[in-house]
Amino acid sequence: MIMQETIEKLSLDKIKCHIFLCADQTKPKCCDRDLGIASWEYLKNRLHELGLDHPSKLDANYVFRTKTNCLRVCINGPILLVYPDGVWYRQATPMVIEQILQQHILRGQILDEYAFHVHPLDNNVKFH
Ligand code: FES
Repeated sequence: MIMQETIEKLSLDKIKCHIFLCADQTKPKCCDRDLGIASWEYLKNRLHELGLDHPSKLDANYVFRTKTNCLRVCINGPILLVYPDGVWYRQATPMVIEQILQQHILRGQILDEYAFHVHPLDNNVKFH
């Protein structure tokens, strides 16, 4: 498969937001490995059930998800990060992930109780 086919298959140009979750780590420091895996499975299943994990007729944009080995915070996990909003969440258990999906992803409101840092990315930054 050539790269362009992969890009189209994954609809990479339709990504509206990207969720990173620290789970199934090589060295589980921020949370118990089983909890991270449970959170990851919950995130995957709920994004699918809500129809947010793929472009649809109603909404061409969708949510991309990535399981990371470590987001380098390493305390109060599972750590979950939402881009482009740059919102970092702590203790992203399945219950908290449900609140993040309902409040942040679907309504655009940050879940203050669990957000520990907000730093949206600036698209105009040039490194050279
Ligand atoms: S092990 Fe989860 S952030 Fe480092």
